[in-house]
Amino acid sequence: MESAYNYIMLDKPRSRTAGLYNAFVKNDEMERFRLLRVLANWLVPRYRLKWPQMGWWDDSFFNEYLEQFAEERGLNADRRFMLYQLSRLSIAVDGDTAECGAYLGAGSFLMALNNREAPSKRKHVIFDSFEGLSTPKKIDGAHWTEGDLSVSEAQMRENLSEFESEIEVHKGWIPDSFRSVSERRYAFVHVDVDLYQPTLDSIDYFYPRLSNNAILLCDDYGLKFCPGATAAMDEFFSDKPEKVLSLSGGAGFIVKGRPTATIVSQMP
Ligand SMILES: C[S@@+](CC[C@H](N)C(=O)[O-])C[C@H]1O[C@@H](n2cnc3c(N)ncnc32)[C@H](O)[C@@H]1O
Repeated sequence: MESAYNYIMLDKPRSRTAGLYNAFVKNDEMERFRLLRVLANWLVPRYRLKWPQMGWWDDSFFNEYLEQFAEERGLNADRRFMLYQLSRLSIAVDGDTAECGAYLGAGSFLMALNNREAPSKRKHVIFDSFEGLSTPKKIDGAHWTEGDLSVSEAQMRENLSEFESEIEVHKGWIPDSFRSVSERRYAFVHVDVDLYQPTLDSIDYFYPRLSNNAILLCDDYGLKFCPGATAAMDEFFSDKPEKVLSLSGGAGFIVKGRPTATIVSQMP
């Protein structure tokens, strides 16, 4: 503990009491951050903190959005922000957008919002059982249970009410529910169903329907509590020119038609 404390203080040597005084009494944010690093290094050494001077942490629109979905203190902000940014990249790509697994609609909200800037009118298409997860397989590990993350369609629609005429909702189990949607091209697809089989079924359905330069983002990629979804992505793209680009805050994506260098597996 002592050596960790000295290590953190390396940029400005100071006494421990001065540091604690500044952190607790003067409410100095950087001093509090130093203290946090000491505690984090001690409690969970493998946990990697990041610099607290992230500009987007103070983005008022984005913070209001997180609050709207009660996620301002949650652990998903990095992935939400990546989804928001990546879906901006597809506004000039031909086609609609889609989400497999919408839950309360937080991800769909960002995609529907960015769709408003697309040069031609597009729809955001949602697929969800509204009965939670399907049955996990062995490859999915022990984290998930059938029926987890169940919300009502009405609740999700209420959260997306400002986009009512811009969304299309297909209730039912993936892949059966894909039969109820008309044939079309897609510019951006968010796959977020947590488990191996529906992830594989979703990519299998959407990959041939992606326009050139379209993005397919899998929210669960690389997260250790979603080993099945990660495996489904790697398995599907193993014989495709596009390989999954893994994001540092979790999730992974491909760009249709962009061959990608292979990477040595990040998973143990
Ligand atoms: C992690 S949540 C999605 C979170 C959402 N994308 C967001 O941005 O907040 C997973 C969702 O996938 C849905 N789901 C899981 N397996 C499914 C399947 N086989 N068919 C249809 N929906 C499924 C669940 O009902 C749940 O709403």
